[in-house]
Amino acid sequence: MVVAGEMDSNVTELEDFWNILQDMDPVWTTTVLLVPCVVLLTAGSFYLYSFIMGLLSKMSVRNKVVVLTDALSGLGKECAGVFHRGGARLILCGKNWEKLEELADELASASDPTVTFPSKLVLLDFGDMDSMPEVTSEILECYGCLDVLIFNSGMKVKAPAQSVSLEMDKLLMDNNYFGPATLAKGLLPSMISRRTGHLLLVSSIQGRISVPFRTAYAASKHAVQAFFDCLRAEVEEYGISVSTINTTFISGSASSSSSSTEASRSIWSLLYTKKPLGVSPDEAATEIVRTLSSRRKEVVVAPSLPKAALYARSFFPDLFFAVVAAGVKSAAAAENM
Ligand SMILES: *[C@@H]1O[C@H](CO)[C@@H](O)[C@H](O)[C@H]1NC(C)=O
Repeated sequence: MVVAGEMDSNVTELEDFWNILQDMDPVWTTTVLLVPCVVLLTAGSFYLYSFIMGLLSKMSVRNKVVVLTDALSGLGKECAGVFHRGGARLILCGKNWEKLEELADELASASDPTVTFPSKLVLLDFGDMDSMPEVTSEILECYGCLDVLIFNSGMKVKAPAQSVSLEMDKLLMDNNYFGPATLAKGLLPSMISRRTGHLLLVSSIQGRISVPFRTAYAASKHAVQAFFDCLRAEVEEYGISVSTINTTFISGSASSSSSSTEASRSIWSLLYTKKPLGVSPDEAATEIVRTLSSRRKEVVVAPSLPKAALYARSFFPDLFFAVVAAGVKSAAAAENM
Protein backbone atom coordinates (compact mmCIF):
# COMPACT_ATOMS: atom_id res chain seq x y z
CA MET A 1 0.00 0.00 0.00
CA VAL A 2 2.98 2.16 0.55
CA VAL A 3 3.59 2.01 -3.17
CA ALA A 4 0.07 3.16 -4.01
CA GLY A 5 0.42 6.00 -1.53
CA GLU A 6 3.58 7.14 -3.20
CA MET A 7 1.96 7.02 -6.59
CA ASP A 8 -0.91 9.14 -5.34
CA SER A 9 1.42 11.74 -4.00
CA ASN A 10 3.23 11.76 -7.32
CA VAL A 11 -0.01 12.41 -9.15
CA THR A 12 -0.93 15.28 -6.90
CA GLU A 13 2.53 16.68 -7.23
CA LEU A 14 2.12 16.62 -10.98
CA GLU A 15 -1.25 18.32 -10.69
CA ASP A 16 0.21 20.93 -8.41
CA PHE A 17 2.94 21.51 -10.90
CA TRP A 18 0.43 21.90 -13.68
CA ASN A 19 -1.65 24.36 -11.60
CA ILE A 20 1.40 26.36 -10.81
CA LEU A 21 2.23 26.45 -14.51
CA GLN A 22 -1.19 27.74 -15.36
CA ASP A 23 -1.10 30.39 -12.68
CA MET A 24 2.21 31.57 -13.94
CA ASP A 25 2.87 34.31 -16.39
CA PRO A 26 2.54 32.84 -19.94
CA VAL A 27 6.08 33.88 -20.83
CA TRP A 28 7.34 31.72 -18.00
CA THR A 29 5.17 28.80 -19.04
CA THR A 30 6.57 28.79 -22.55
CA THR A 31 10.09 29.04 -21.17
CA VAL A 32 9.54 26.05 -18.91
CA LEU A 33 8.05 24.05 -21.76
CA LEU A 34 10.77 25.10 -24.14
CA VAL A 35 13.58 23.69 -22.03
CA PRO A 36 12.78 19.99 -22.71
CA CYS A 37 12.33 20.79 -26.40
CA VAL A 38 15.75 22.41 -26.54
CA VAL A 39 17.27 19.45 -24.72
CA LEU A 40 15.63 17.05 -27.19
CA LEU A 41 16.77 19.08 -30.16
CA THR A 42 20.32 19.23 -28.89
CA ALA A 43 20.38 15.48 -28.31
CA GLY A 44 18.94 14.97 -31.77
CA SER A 45 21.53 17.10 -33.47
CA PHE A 46 24.31 15.35 -31.58
CA TYR A 47 22.96 12.06 -32.82
CA LEU A 48 22.79 13.39 -36.37
CA TYR A 49 26.30 14.74 -36.06
CA SER A 50 27.76 11.40 -35.01
CA PHE A 51 25.76 9.67 -37.74
CA ILE A 52 27.18 12.01 -40.39
CA MET A 53 30.67 11.66 -38.95
CA GLY A 54 30.23 7.91 -39.22
CA LEU A 55 29.29 8.24 -42.89
CA LEU A 56 32.18 10.59 -43.53
CA SER A 57 34.68 8.28 -41.93
CA LYS A 58 33.39 5.42 -44.07
CA MET A 59 33.82 7.57 -47.15
CA SER A 60 37.31 8.47 -46.10
CA VAL A 61 38.59 4.92 -46.53
CA ARG A 62 36.70 3.71 -49.61
CA ASN A 63 39.13 2.71 -52.39
CA LYS A 64 42.05 4.06 -50.37
CA VAL A 65 45.24 2.04 -50.21
CA VAL A 66 45.85 1.51 -46.49
CA VAL A 67 48.97 -0.09 -45.01
CA LEU A 68 48.83 -1.56 -41.50
CA THR A 69 52.26 -2.32 -40.01
CA ASP A 70 51.07 -4.84 -37.46
CA ALA A 71 47.82 -6.30 -38.68
CA LEU A 72 48.08 -9.25 -36.30
CA SER A 73 47.81 -7.30 -33.04
CA GLY A 74 44.46 -6.76 -31.35
CA LEU A 75 44.27 -3.21 -32.65
CA GLY A 76 45.58 -4.28 -36.07
CA LYS A 77 42.85 -6.87 -36.53
CA GLU A 78 40.18 -4.44 -35.43
CA CYS A 79 41.45 -1.80 -37.86
CA ALA A 80 41.72 -4.37 -40.63
CA GLY A 81 38.05 -5.26 -40.12
CA VAL A 82 36.89 -1.64 -40.12
CA PHE A 83 38.90 -0.66 -43.20
CA HIS A 84 38.00 -3.80 -45.09
CA ARG A 85 34.29 -3.29 -44.54
CA GLY A 86 34.71 0.36 -45.46
CA GLY A 87 36.00 -0.66 -48.90
CA ALA A 88 39.70 0.12 -48.46
CA ARG A 89 42.45 -1.67 -50.38
CA LEU A 90 44.34 -3.13 -47.48
CA ILE A 91 47.98 -4.09 -47.32
CA LEU A 92 48.37 -6.16 -44.17
CA CYS A 93 51.86 -6.46 -42.73
CA GLY A 94 52.98 -8.79 -39.96
CA LYS A 95 55.64 -11.20 -38.84
CA ASN A 96 53.78 -14.45 -39.42
CA TRP A 97 52.70 -15.44 -42.91
CA GLU A 98 50.20 -18.15 -41.89
CA LYS A 99 48.45 -15.83 -39.48
CA LEU A 100 48.31 -13.09 -42.10
CA GLU A 101 46.67 -15.52 -44.53
CA GLU A 102 44.21 -16.58 -41.87
CA LEU A 103 43.30 -12.97 -41.20
CA ALA A 104 42.84 -12.23 -44.91
CA ASP A 105 40.55 -15.27 -45.25
CA GLU A 106 38.54 -14.21 -42.23
CA LEU A 107 38.09 -10.73 -43.65
CA ALA A 108 37.11 -12.03 -47.07
CA SER A 109 34.55 -14.50 -45.74
CA ALA A 110 32.95 -11.95 -43.41
CA SER A 111 32.14 -9.44 -46.12
CA ASP A 112 30.52 -8.91 -49.48
CA PRO A 113 33.22 -9.43 -52.16
CA THR A 114 31.51 -7.05 -54.59
CA VAL A 115 32.11 -4.02 -52.39
CA THR A 116 35.41 -4.97 -50.75
CA PHE A 117 38.93 -5.69 -51.98
CA PRO A 118 40.92 -8.82 -51.17
CA SER A 119 43.76 -7.90 -48.82
CA LYS A 120 47.37 -8.00 -49.94
CA LEU A 121 49.93 -9.40 -47.53
CA VAL A 122 53.51 -8.40 -46.81
CA LEU A 123 55.91 -9.98 -44.31
CA LEU A 124 57.33 -7.25 -42.13
CA ASP A 125 59.58 -7.54 -39.09
CA PHE A 126 61.01 -4.28 -37.76
CA GLY A 127 63.50 -6.36 -35.77
CA ASP A 128 65.21 -7.20 -39.08
CA MET A 129 66.26 -3.83 -40.41
CA ASP A 130 68.21 -5.33 -43.35
CA SER A 131 64.94 -6.44 -44.91
CA MET A 132 63.51 -2.93 -44.98
CA PRO A 133 64.37 -1.93 -48.59
CA GLU A 134 62.79 -5.13 -49.85
CA VAL A 135 59.68 -4.68 -47.70
CA THR A 136 59.31 -1.10 -48.89
CA SER A 137 59.35 -2.07 -52.56
CA GLU A 138 57.00 -4.99 -51.90
CA ILE A 139 54.47 -2.60 -50.34
CA LEU A 140 54.80 -0.20 -53.25
CA GLU A 141 54.33 -2.99 -55.80
CA CYS A 142 50.98 -4.04 -54.29
CA TYR A 143 49.04 -1.14 -55.84
CA GLY A 144 51.77 1.13 -57.14
CA CYS A 145 50.87 3.79 -54.59
CA LEU A 146 49.47 4.28 -51.12
CA ASP A 147 47.19 6.72 -49.32
CA VAL A 148 47.34 5.82 -45.65
CA LEU A 149 50.17 4.36 -43.60
CA ILE A 150 49.33 3.29 -40.06
CA PHE A 151 52.13 2.51 -37.63
CA ASN A 152 50.45 0.44 -34.98
CA SER A 153 53.34 -1.86 -34.16
CA GLY A 154 55.32 -1.63 -30.99
CA MET A 155 57.49 -3.67 -28.72
CA LYS A 156 57.27 -3.44 -24.95
CA VAL A 157 59.90 -4.12 -22.37
CA LYS A 158 59.35 -3.77 -18.67
CA ALA A 159 62.36 -4.04 -16.38
CA PRO A 160 64.57 -1.91 -14.10
CA ALA A 161 66.81 0.30 -16.23
CA GLN A 162 70.13 -1.27 -15.20
CA SER A 163 69.03 -4.76 -16.14
CA VAL A 164 68.15 -4.03 -19.77
CA SER A 165 71.01 -5.04 -22.07
CA LEU A 166 72.28 -2.90 -24.90
CA GLU A 167 71.09 -5.58 -27.36
CA MET A 168 67.60 -5.30 -25.94
CA ASP A 169 67.76 -1.51 -26.09
CA LYS A 170 68.78 -1.71 -29.74
CA LEU A 171 66.09 -4.23 -30.62
CA LEU A 172 63.52 -2.00 -28.98
CA MET A 173 64.74 1.04 -30.86
CA ASP A 174 64.66 -0.94 -34.13
CA ASN A 175 61.08 -1.97 -33.49
CA ASN A 176 59.72 1.29 -32.16
CA TYR A 177 61.86 3.92 -33.82
CA PHE A 178 64.21 2.89 -36.66
CA GLY A 179 61.65 0.58 -38.24
CA PRO A 180 58.78 3.07 -38.51
CA ALA A 181 61.16 5.89 -39.45
CA THR A 182 62.79 3.84 -42.20
CA LEU A 183 59.51 2.62 -43.62
CA ALA A 184 58.12 6.16 -43.60
CA LYS A 185 61.20 7.45 -45.43
CA GLY A 186 60.97 4.65 -47.98
CA LEU A 187 57.32 5.27 -48.76
CA LEU A 188 57.32 9.07 -48.61
CA PRO A 189 58.68 9.69 -52.15
CA SER A 190 55.62 7.92 -53.57
CA MET A 191 53.27 10.04 -51.46
CA ILE A 192 55.14 13.23 -52.29
CA SER A 193 54.95 12.54 -56.02
CA ARG A 194 51.16 12.14 -55.77
CA ARG A 195 50.85 15.11 -53.39
CA THR A 196 48.63 13.20 -51.03
CA GLY A 197 48.92 10.86 -48.09
CA HIS A 198 48.37 10.37 -44.41
CA LEU A 199 50.81 8.93 -41.90
CA LEU A 200 49.31 7.87 -38.62
CA LEU A 201 51.38 6.87 -35.63
CA VAL A 202 49.80 5.00 -32.76
CA SER A 203 51.89 6.03 -29.78
CA SER A 204 51.55 5.69 -26.08
CA ILE A 205 50.90 8.24 -23.37
CA GLN A 206 53.16 6.08 -21.23
CA GLY A 207 56.07 7.89 -22.80
CA ARG A 208 54.71 11.14 -21.47
CA ILE A 209 53.62 10.05 -18.02
CA SER A 210 56.84 8.15 -17.36
CA VAL A 211 55.61 4.93 -15.84
CA PRO A 212 58.55 3.39 -13.94
CA PHE A 213 60.47 0.36 -15.29
CA ARG A 214 59.85 1.34 -18.86
CA THR A 215 62.84 3.53 -19.50
CA ALA A 216 63.81 2.07 -22.86
CA TYR A 217 60.25 1.82 -24.05
CA ALA A 218 59.47 5.43 -23.13
CA ALA A 219 62.68 6.61 -24.78
CA SER A 220 61.84 4.82 -28.04
CA LYS A 221 58.31 6.23 -28.01
CA HIS A 222 59.59 9.75 -27.48
CA ALA A 223 62.05 9.29 -30.32
CA VAL A 224 59.43 8.17 -32.81
CA GLN A 225 57.01 10.88 -31.69
CA ALA A 226 59.67 13.55 -32.22
CA PHE A 227 60.47 12.12 -35.66
CA PHE A 228 56.86 12.35 -36.82
CA ASP A 229 56.31 15.77 -35.22
CA CYS A 230 59.24 17.15 -37.23
CA LEU A 231 58.18 15.32 -40.36
CA ARG A 232 54.70 16.83 -40.13
CA ALA A 233 56.00 20.31 -40.77
CA GLU A 234 58.26 19.09 -43.59
CA VAL A 235 55.62 17.32 -45.64
CA GLU A 236 52.67 19.63 -45.14
CA GLU A 237 53.45 21.50 -48.35
CA TYR A 238 52.96 18.25 -50.29
CA GLY A 239 49.47 17.74 -48.92
CA ILE A 240 50.61 14.95 -46.63
CA SER A 241 49.18 14.79 -43.12
CA VAL A 242 50.82 13.31 -40.06
CA SER A 243 48.73 12.35 -37.04
CA THR A 244 49.73 10.82 -33.76
CA ILE A 245 47.27 9.02 -31.54
CA ASN A 246 48.32 8.45 -27.95
CA THR A 247 46.58 5.74 -26.03
CA THR A 248 47.02 3.96 -22.75
CA PHE A 249 47.63 0.27 -23.29
CA ILE A 250 45.17 -1.37 -25.63
CA SER A 251 43.36 -4.04 -23.68
CA GLY A 252 43.26 -7.53 -25.12
CA SER A 253 46.18 -6.99 -27.44
CA ALA A 254 47.96 -9.79 -25.54
CA SER A 255 51.33 -8.18 -26.14
CA SER A 256 52.37 -7.74 -22.53
CA SER A 257 54.12 -10.97 -21.80
CA SER A 258 56.00 -9.56 -18.82
CA SER A 259 54.99 -10.55 -15.33
CA SER A 260 52.10 -8.47 -14.07
CA THR A 261 51.82 -9.87 -10.54
CA GLU A 262 54.76 -7.89 -9.22
CA ALA A 263 53.37 -4.49 -10.17
CA SER A 264 49.75 -5.21 -9.41
CA ARG A 265 50.06 -4.11 -5.79
CA SER A 266 51.39 -0.62 -6.35
CA ILE A 267 49.05 2.35 -6.42
CA TRP A 268 50.66 3.40 -9.60
CA SER A 269 49.78 0.14 -11.28
CA LEU A 270 46.20 1.39 -11.34
CA LEU A 271 47.28 3.49 -14.27
CA TYR A 272 48.23 0.68 -16.56
CA THR A 273 47.25 -2.77 -15.37
CA LYS A 274 43.54 -2.63 -14.68
CA LYS A 275 41.20 -3.18 -17.54
CA PRO A 276 38.86 -0.18 -17.22
CA LEU A 277 41.88 2.05 -17.64
CA GLY A 278 42.81 0.61 -20.97
CA VAL A 279 41.26 1.34 -24.31
CA SER A 280 39.55 -1.46 -26.18
CA PRO A 281 40.83 -2.25 -29.68
CA ASP A 282 37.54 -1.21 -31.27
CA GLU A 283 37.53 2.15 -29.48
CA ALA A 284 41.05 2.74 -30.70
CA ALA A 285 40.17 1.65 -34.24
CA THR A 286 37.18 4.02 -34.29
CA GLU A 287 39.45 6.84 -33.20
CA ILE A 288 41.91 5.99 -35.97
CA VAL A 289 39.23 6.13 -38.66
CA ARG A 290 37.91 9.39 -37.21
CA THR A 291 41.39 10.87 -37.20
CA LEU A 292 41.85 9.93 -40.84
CA SER A 293 38.87 12.02 -41.85
CA SER A 294 39.44 14.91 -39.44
CA ARG A 295 43.21 14.98 -40.11
CA ARG A 296 43.77 16.05 -36.52
CA LYS A 297 47.43 16.26 -35.65
CA GLU A 298 47.39 14.97 -32.13
CA VAL A 299 44.75 12.82 -30.50
CA VAL A 300 44.67 11.33 -27.01
CA VAL A 301 42.42 8.34 -26.39
CA ALA A 302 42.47 7.40 -22.75
CA PRO A 303 40.11 6.84 -19.87
CA SER A 304 39.89 9.73 -17.43
CA LEU A 305 42.45 8.66 -14.84
CA PRO A 306 45.43 8.40 -17.19
CA LYS A 307 44.25 11.61 -18.84
CA ALA A 308 44.21 13.32 -15.46
CA ALA A 309 47.73 12.01 -14.88
CA LEU A 310 48.75 13.60 -18.16
CA TYR A 311 47.49 17.00 -16.98
CA ALA A 312 49.12 16.53 -13.60
CA ARG A 313 52.41 15.82 -15.40
CA SER A 314 52.13 19.12 -17.28
CA PHE A 315 50.87 21.40 -14.53
CA PHE A 316 52.13 19.90 -11.26
CA PRO A 317 55.29 18.04 -12.26
CA ASP A 318 56.76 17.88 -8.73
CA LEU A 319 53.62 16.39 -7.28
CA PHE A 320 53.39 13.99 -10.18
CA PHE A 321 56.96 12.71 -9.80
CA ALA A 322 56.48 12.33 -6.04
CA VAL A 323 53.39 10.17 -6.58
CA VAL A 324 55.21 7.98 -9.10
CA ALA A 325 58.14 7.49 -6.73
CA ALA A 326 55.77 6.70 -3.85
CA GLY A 327 54.10 4.10 -6.05
CA VAL A 328 57.43 2.39 -6.72
CA LYS A 329 58.36 2.45 -3.01
CA SER A 330 55.05 0.99 -1.90
CA ALA A 331 55.37 -1.76 -4.50
CA ALA A 332 58.86 -2.55 -3.20
CA ALA A 333 57.62 -2.55 0.40
CA ALA A 334 54.76 -4.88 -0.49
CA GLU A 335 57.24 -7.24 -2.10
CA ASN A 336 59.48 -7.34 0.97
CA MET A 337 56.62 -8.31 3.23
C1 LIG B 1 52.32 11.07 -26.97
O1 LIG B 1 53.35 10.15 -26.67
C2 LIG B 1 54.66 10.60 -26.96
C3 LIG B 1 55.63 9.50 -26.68
O2 LIG B 1 55.20 8.61 -25.75
C4 LIG B 1 54.95 11.86 -26.17
O3 LIG B 1 56.22 12.34 -26.51
C5 LIG B 1 53.90 12.90 -26.48
O4 LIG B 1 54.12 14.04 -25.70
C6 LIG B 1 52.51 12.35 -26.20
N1 LIG B 1 51.51 13.32 -26.54
C7 LIG B 1 50.43 13.52 -25.80
C8 LIG B 1 49.50 14.56 -26.27
O5 LIG B 1 50.22 12.88 -24.79
